[in-house]
Amino acid sequence: MQLDNFNLTGKTALVTGSAGLLGIEHAAALLECGAQVILTDISEATLGYARSTLEVDFGVKKIITKVMDVSDEENIIKVSNSLCALGIRVDILVNNAAIDPKVSGDEGVTETSRLEHFSLEQWNLQIAVGLTGAFLCSKVFGKEMAKDCLGGVILNIASDLSVFSPDQRLYRKQGLSEDMQPVKPVTYSVIKAGLIGLTRYLATYWATEGVRCNALSPGGVFNGQNDNFVKHLSSLIPMGRMASRDEYRSAVQFLCSDASRYMNGQNIVIDGGRSVW
Ligand SMILES: NC(=O)c1ccc[n+]([C@@H]2O[C@H](COP(=O)([O-])OP(=O)(O)OC[C@H]3O[C@@H](n4cnc5c(N)ncnc54)[C@H](O)[C@@H]3O)[C@@H](O)[C@H]2O)c1
Repeated sequence: MQLDNFNLTGKTALVTGSAGLLGIEHAAALLECGAQVILTDISEATLGYARSTLEVDFGVKKIITKVMDVSDEENIIKVSNSLCALGIRVDILVNNAAIDPKVSGDEGVTETSRLEHFSLEQWNLQIAVGLTGAFLCSKVFGKEMAKDCLGGVILNIASDLSVFSPDQRLYRKQGLSEDMQPVKPVTYSVIKAGLIGLTRYLATYWATEGVRCNALSPGGVFNGQNDNFVKHLSSLIPMGRMASRDEYRSAVQFLCSDASRYMNGQNIVIDGGRSVW
């Protein structure tokens, strides 16, 4: 039966940034297919909340959590070693962690999201997590997947902004001068486009050892944003609405399982059609 290809029983999946809005959904998707899931993020407290939510929802016990900062190579190696010591092989890696600061536009505050004001410190910090973090985790966990030739899957979570530029009109605030209008920061575009390059690179690098790599590019997820923003963004989407948080689960299940076993190096854009309009 073709649906058996989605079965992840016996596989272990590690999700980075898994205490966030989508990270917990990716973990749920993998649990639905029978995988053992390792939740990683930077805060013990938010990880604990994600773990108990998923344990209740799926009636499973003892989901493993690890505090892991994806920008810290030593920390990643330590987590990898601790899993190896427990006899756990990571078969699936979901590079999901990111710092996506909310665009502010607060009155009286210099709009630091604008390119002219964007600090090198923020550039380095956001790239360290969103892009370097995916490189470091792929390096550490991908190496282990390739080592015994049993292979594995790396899934990079990019964004619809990996294939087009942000429409800065979405973030405009009335009454602010042009040089104070908030924007989606440059780092977002650079990180997401960079992840697609990383995806293609990894797809060929360990292909003969059975490691596949693809990217998933979600469009905007509704999460209580203000009405104006939602209305404006929805008008740019042929389907006329933002995504709900669970609408990427099936794509994650497809990309992380044998259902996609001949797919490698691709970027699946799921954006209600925004990028084709
Ligand atoms: N939410 C959306 O609308 C949307 C749309 C397209 C793409 N995405 C992408 O999906 C992914 C998840 O987004 P989200 O909306 O769940 O964001 P989120 O902010 O809710 O979650 C991100 C998680 O990453 C964690 N994190 C931050 N720094 C870290 C570090 N150094 N090491 C490890 N973890 C760290 C945060 O603690 C947080 O739990 C991101 O890559 C984001 O760019 C989101």
